[in-house]
Amino acid sequence: MDKRKIIIDCDPGHDDAVAIMMAASAPNLELIGITVEAGNQTLEKTGRNALNMVQYLNLDIPVALGANHPLKREPQTCAEIHGESGLDGFTFPPLKISFDKRDAVTLLKDLLLANDKVTLVPTGPLTNIALLLQKHPEVKSHIEEIVLMGGSIGYGNVSPAAEFNILCDPEAAEVVFESGLTVKMMGLDVTRRVLLYPEILERMNKIGNKVSDLFYALMKTFNANQKKIFGHEGAPLHDPATIVYLINPNVITLKKMNVEIDVSGGPSYGRTNCDQFDYLHRPHNAYVAIDIDVDEYWNVIEKGLKAFSN
Ligand code: BDR
Ligand code: CA
Repeated sequence: MDKRKIIIDCDPGHDDAVAIMMAASAPNLELIGITVEAGNQTLEKTGRNALNMVQYLNLDIPVALGANHPLKREPQTCAEIHGESGLDGFTFPPLKISFDKRDAVTLLKDLLLANDKVTLVPTGPLTNIALLLQKHPEVKSHIEEIVLMGGSIGYGNVSPAAEFNILCDPEAAEVVFESGLTVKMMGLDVTRRVLLYPEILERMNKIGNKVSDLFYALMKTFNANQKKIFGHEGAPLHDPATIVYLINPNVITLKKMNVEIDVSGGPSYGRTNCDQFDYLHRPHNAYVAIDIDVDEYWNVIEKGLKAFSN
C-alpha cells in the first residue's frame, strides 16, 4: 500500500504529542517532517518538545523551527493547560538530536517540492502555513489537503467565540481558509466529545509499552490541568483527531460549508463563522467536522499505541 505522506505543523503541547505518536505508528501514513511554531508555549519550548518526541519515538525525520509570533497580534501561550515546559508530566532522556538547519517555511517548501503530493496537518496556530502560502505559492499544487485542528462551529475555549489555535493567529487562519486549497477542520464540536475519562486512561495504560507509558504520564498531567481550569473530568484530546481521521475517515463526519474567520478584532475575534445551513450562499471553502464516533476514536488511539514495541 502506498502510504500517504504527511507533515505535522505543531506547538507541542500534550495533544500535539499524541498526534505525533499516532502519525508515527499509522500503517497508512508516512510522517516526513515536523515543523513547529510558538503556541502552547514559546517557540524554544515547543521546539524542544517536538525534538524530545522525535527522539523518544526513534523517528528519523527533520524538525524545523518556525514562527515565534503571530502575523499581526501579540503572542499568547497556554501554560495553564500544558505547563511551564509546554509538555509537563514526563522527564525525557537528554537530547542527542538537533533541529534541521532550515526554518520551518523552507523545510515545508523543500519537502513539498520534493514530493508529488503531501498532506499538511496543522495542530497549532496557522502562522507557519500562512507564511508558506504567502512566500511560496508554487507549493500549492503539491498540497494534497490541509487537515487541521482548530476552530469551532459552536462556542470557543479561550473566548466565548474562539478556539485557541485560531485565536492565536486569526489573520494566518484567514490566509489558510481563503487559500483555495482543500481544508478540513477538526474543531471543538467533535474534539470536545473525546474526553479522556480515567477509565480510558487506564485502558491505555494497560498496553504497557514505552509509548503508552509516555502517553499515560503526559495525559495524567493534561487531565489534572484541564480539570483545574475547565472542570472537565476527562480532558478533550483535540489534536489527534486530525491523524485519527487520516487513519480512518469513517470516524469523523465532515460537511462542506463556508467558513469565515473573524479578523475584526472585536469580541468574536478569531471565531470560525461556519455557515452550516448555507444562509449566505458563499463558496464552500472548508470541510468541517460535525460528528465523531467516540468509541471508534479510542479504538484507533489504542491500536496506535499498541503498534509500538517496547
Ligand atoms: C488546541 O489548543 C491547544 O492548546 C491544543 O494543543 C490544541 O491544538 C485546542 O483548542
Ligand atoms: Ca496544539
